[in-house]
Parts: sequence; C-alpha cells; structure tokens
Amino acid sequence: MKNLLISCLLLVAATTTRAQLLPVYLDNSKSIDERIEDALSRMTLDEKIRVLHAQSKFSSRGVPRLGIPDLWTDDGPHGIRPDVLWDSWRDAGKTNDSVVAFPALTCLAASWNPALARIYGKSLGEEARYRGKDMVLGPGVNIYRTPLGGRNFEYLGEDPFLISTMVVPYIQGVQSNGVSACVKHFALNNDEANRHNLNVIVDDRALNEIYLPAYKAAVQKGKVWAVMCAYNYYNNQPMCTNGKLVVKKLKGEWGFDGVAITDWGARTTTDDAVKYGLDMEFGTHTDGLHKESKNAYNNYYLAFPYMKGIINGRYGTKELDEKVRRILRLFYRTNMNPDRKTGFLCSEEHYATARKVGEEGIVLLQNQRNVLPLNLQKTRRILVVGENAIKMMTVGGGSSSLKVQHEITPIEGLKARLKGMKIEVDYARGYVGDTTGAYNGVRTGQDLREYRSEEELLREAVDKAKGADYIIYIGGLNKSEHQDDEGYDRLTYDLPYNQDRLIEALARANKNMVYVNISGNAVAMPWKSRVPAIVQGWFLGSESGKALAAVLTGDTNPSGKLPFTWPARLEDVGAHVLNTYPGTWRPDHKLIDEEYKESIYVGYRWVDHAKTTPLFAFGHGLSYTSFKLFDLRADKTAMTREDRITFTVKVKNTGKVAGAEVIQLYIHDDESSLERPYKELKGFQKVYLEPGESKEVSITVDNDALSFYDDKAGAWKSENGNFEALVGNASDNLPLKLKFQLK
Ligand code: BGC
Repeated sequence: MKNLLISCLLLVAATTTRAQLLPVYLDNSKSIDERIEDALSRMTLDEKIRVLHAQSKFSSRGVPRLGIPDLWTDDGPHGIRPDVLWDSWRDAGKTNDSVVAFPALTCLAASWNPALARIYGKSLGEEARYRGKDMVLGPGVNIYRTPLGGRNFEYLGEDPFLISTMVVPYIQGVQSNGVSACVKHFALNNDEANRHNLNVIVDDRALNEIYLPAYKAAVQKGKVWAVMCAYNYYNNQPMCTNGKLVVKKLKGEWGFDGVAITDWGARTTTDDAVKYGLDMEFGTHTDGLHKESKNAYNNYYLAFPYMKGIINGRYGTKELDEKVRRILRLFYRTNMNPDRKTGFLCSEEHYATARKVGEEGIVLLQNQRNVLPLNLQKTRRILVVGENAIKMMTVGGGSSSLKVQHEITPIEGLKARLKGMKIEVDYARGYVGDTTGAYNGVRTGQDLREYRSEEELLREAVDKAKGADYIIYIGGLNKSEHQDDEGYDRLTYDLPYNQDRLIEALARANKNMVYVNISGNAVAMPWKSRVPAIVQGWFLGSESGKALAAVLTGDTNPSGKLPFTWPARLEDVGAHVLNTYPGTWRPDHKLIDEEYKESIYVGYRWVDHAKTTPLFAFGHGLSYTSFKLFDLRADKTAMTREDRITFTVKVKNTGKVAGAEVIQLYIHDDESSLERPYKELKGFQKVYLEPGESKEVSITVDNDALSFYDDKAGAWKSENGNFEALVGNASDNLPLKLKFQLK
C-alpha cells in the first residue's frame, strides 16, 4: 500500500514536472489546435515566412529553434522519386533511393478495387517514410478528357465517381503512415500542351459534375492534408490563387483544413498569394540568382517580398498567421507526429502489391477464338515482337520518373514463367521507338540502340512469325516526348513509329496474334478486326513482366475494366469534334483559351450523347470465364431525399475457372429540368467467384446519386420523378434495368 502511494506520488510529480517543462506546442496530450496556437505565438516573423516556401527543390523549412524539422516532399504518384540535388533537378546520385515502382494510376483505376487502392497507398506511404519524406506529391485526379493528354497515365480515368471511389482509400493509405498525400493538379489541368498559359473556360455544371468531385471526395472523405494547385488558369486567374476555386470552393465550401501548395513553378504574385489562400510556394518562376539574393528561394513571392510587404505595412499578419497555422497542422500530422513509423523500402509486400495491382488492372479488351490464355500444352514456339517487350518503362515521363531496385520487363517475365517448359521464346524488335532510357541523370542502363532499317526489322519479324504458335506483340506508347509524358500532349491518336503497318503485316503472317498495348492512353487500332486478342497492359512498374505473364498464361484471370472510353477516332471525342482542343491563343500571345464546349459530356457521357460507338467502352473488360447477372431487385420502389435505396443482383460464374467480375450500376434520370447525361456510374463492386459459384451483390445509392448541379441555383439538386437503375458489367452492357422513384 505504501509502495503504491509512493508510486502514485512520483507519477503525479513526474507528470507535473513534465507538464511544467514541456511547452504546449510539444505536449502530445494537448489538442493539435492548442499546440498550433502555442507554436504560432513563439514564432518570429522570419520563422513564419520561412515555412511558407521551398528552401530546396523538394523541401521547405521547419522551425529549427523550436525543434520543428524541415518538411520533405517528393513525387509521386506511383513510386517515390529519386533524390535530386539541393538546388537542381539533376539526380543526386544516391545509391539508397531505389524503390518499388507501383503500376501507374490508370492501372490502379482499372482494377476497380478500392481495397487495393488502400494497400497501394499504404505501401507507397511506407516507402516514402523510409526515404524520409513527409509528403507524396500525388495522387493525380485530373479527368481523362482527350486521349492525347500526356499525363493521363498518372490519373484515374474519366469518371468522377470511379476516381472519387479509388482516390479516397489511396489517400487514407498514404496518410496512415503519417505521410501527407497531395492531391493534384487542382484543377482543370487536362492538357499538357501549353499548361502554363492555358485558361480553361468551362461551365459551372461541367466544373461541378465532372472536374471537381474527385477533389471534393479527396478533401471531405479522404481528409487529404495537401492540395497542389495547377499551372493553368481558370476564369482568367491562375489556379494557385484562384478566388473561385481555392478560396470559395476548396477552403470555403469544402472546409479544407490542409495546405494549398503551388505546383513547381506555377504562377502567382505576392499580392495574389496573400489574398487568395495560397499557403506554400514551391517555385513560381522567380529567379533569385539573377536578382537580389544568392539564394533563389528568398525571392519567391512568399519569401522576402512577402516579409518586406509586411514590414512596410502593405500586408497585415492575419493571412500570414492563417497560412502558418495550416502549415503547423501539416507538421503535427507528419514530421511532428510522435506515432509515425519508419516505413519499409522494397519489401516483399510492396512487390506483391505492385504485382497484384498489375494483375487486377490489366484489361483483356478482345479475345476472339479464345486465343488467350496461351495454350501452353500445345505450344512449342512463341514469337515476342516489339520494343516495349524489352524496354524498361519506369524511367521517363516527367516528374513521376523513378529509379527502381528492379524492373522485370515483359519478355523477362514471360521467359521466367515458361522456364523449363520446352517452349522457345523467340524475339524480334519489329520497330525502333525511344532508345534513350534516361531522365534527369537516372539511366535504365539498357542499350536499345538498333541500326537495322525499318524494312529489315519488319521482314525479320514477319519471317519469324511464320510457324510460331503465337505472336505476342508488345508495343504501344512509351514515356518519351509526345507519348505518355509530362509537359507534352500526343500529337496524333495513331500508334507511333509506324507500328500499324507492322501489326497488319504480322496479323497476315500468323492468325494467333496477341497485341499488348503498353500505355496510359487509348490509341487508334485500325487493325482491330484482324488481331484476335488485345490486352491493355498499362505502365505496370517493377513487376511488369510478372503481372503480364500471369495474365497471358491464365495463372491470373483478368478482371480489369477500362477507366476511360476507348474511342475509334478522335472525332468521336467531344473535345475534338467540337474543335475546342487545344484552344486559341489570344492576340497578345500570353494566354490560350480553351473552352470545354462538350460541357458535361465527357467520355461515355459523350458516347451516349453523340451516339458514337467506341472501340471499347468505359467499364469494359473480358475474363477467361463467363458470368451471368440476374435477378435484379431493390429494397423499395420509391425513395425520399433522406432515404437510400439498395439494389441487389445475383451473379454467377458460369465458366470453368475462378475469376472476378465488376458489377456496375448506372443511374438514368427519366426527366429533368436540365439536360443530363443518359446515364452515370453511381456504384460498383468487384466480386470473386469460383467456377459455378453465385453471390449476391448489393449496391446502395442515396440522393447524391440522383442529383445534378443546378448552375442557376449554384447548388446540387434532385427532382422528383422516375429513375432507372441500369446494371451490368460495362457501360455498353447493362442488361438489367429497374425503375424506381424519388418522391
Ligand atoms: C509537376 C508536378 C510535380 C512537380 C514536382 C511539376 O512539374 O506538374 O506533378 O509534382 O513538378 O516534381
């Protein structure tokens, strides 16, 4: 008893001393808001200014005097970028920054599996932690508006509901590590061409129904801690200091409590940054080296110019304190978070995640005569053709370029899988695309030089094709300029490097041809009817070859579904047929205006509206088994605005192998005061089934799923009347329908 009393007294004494010694800002038992206010009250003007802007390419300053560490950011979004030099984009030449490349986000989206997005985010966050990063510059959620978009591969497709559903768990996964995600590029950064000078003109309906929902979900559901503001303009104002979108929407309406940061080199001015809610500046084309100071970062708009403005009375301190509060909150969530773990780099789990996302995201687009999976029992020789079979794809493409610990190319993966099987894997290059394999000083180390002529390469491939059991053509795009690459859009919808001619010739030489398209974008396929099997292989990262081999051989039954519409021609895309892309330069050549004339009709919404027939529809993807969907019912026939309605459907695996199907639910509004798309995706679920197995899938929707943005009222609205649930496994295959009412 006596001992207990002494222990208690000691504990009280210890706690009291601790509380007395520990300033509030360091006291984890206090709320974050209390700690923020305490830290803020201790900071000098100079210290406050220093946390607002970069101090190196990817870091900003903490508050050393108070023991608050610097903040380290890094790209993003599908792996942690190698370290660059303090003050330049060049690779720092480190040997401990080789990571796992996860499949690019288009592939993640194609998995239609939010649980996988969570694991993806968690794994990425662990790699970031190990590498000492506090913020991952991703995910990217810009809408896939045209297949020419150079950065579509970094994004999650065309549909706001799909993107929102996938991005929330990604963010939660990253942030569960005490690492901030940074959703980008807010907003309307849908083209790469002219991205610094582009002024987007878009109506309020399209803005709210198509372009903003993913950001809203990231903020309100994902609770993202940072948002990166894009290079482009909207409403004649740069996005980083956009009154309507940053101040009113993001920070006002949506209640975002994190930091709004510039894209690296986005436009602002000190006046605008102060007024329009920009919190952190990571480069805005100020060049201090030639101006006032030796340290370029001091001349950033939110550095010395801001400080001077405060000292001479041009600006007050209210806005400054508001920005610093947000940054302190970011510190407490990340580098001042006492529960942060150390993370892992290149763990077995991370490779397994990369492989799984790849396997679940690969889309079997076409499979005539069941050419796939490869019939290995009857195979003696496989001819692999195409540069992308041997090319490492993790280096290049812009800021998402990586330095990987390893990357298994498609041909390596296939050979490893067929090892010991008495199957010859022959190879013909077929065409020469991009042989550089370098980005900012990181090199793949591959020597892809080739001196034979186009004719010679074609002849070799066609000769070898004769008598092969299969041709597996692995081509498509790559990450070089004007392919899938930041800063450039594609110049044409056609495949580059004259691949169409080669594909046609190969298809004539051997009828068992499989075309594997490596890209983040749709491409023209004039030969579609002559090539029996077509696979969308994305940029799959470190485990590329293994994931592809698993799907081609049938070890994994494909279950990916397209996260965007695959048009037959550019003229079938609203942005192109309405001549809105890429916009018109103003006479003074300062800005280029691009009006999104297709409005809400993006992707499959345009397909329904303009009655076009895509090569492959949004949500399309085949399997090696077959599924039957039947018995669609609902728990009620009418709902109110406060209510929800649950649709249940049975799905049976009617084939011979196990597999997964994505049940998709679209809502059709019979009649509305404003024009609406014929249907919109409002629910989906991926379900795994053994052969012969049946399951019930239930999808619940609420009033949000029935609503549209009423631009006159400036609010979301639903209208009483008849609706229809359309259920199936692709936007062009929705055989089950059920009417219901909103009352
Ligand atoms: C890109 C961002 C990237 C940043 C830092 C910019 O050019 O647009 O997505 O996060 O660079 O690398």
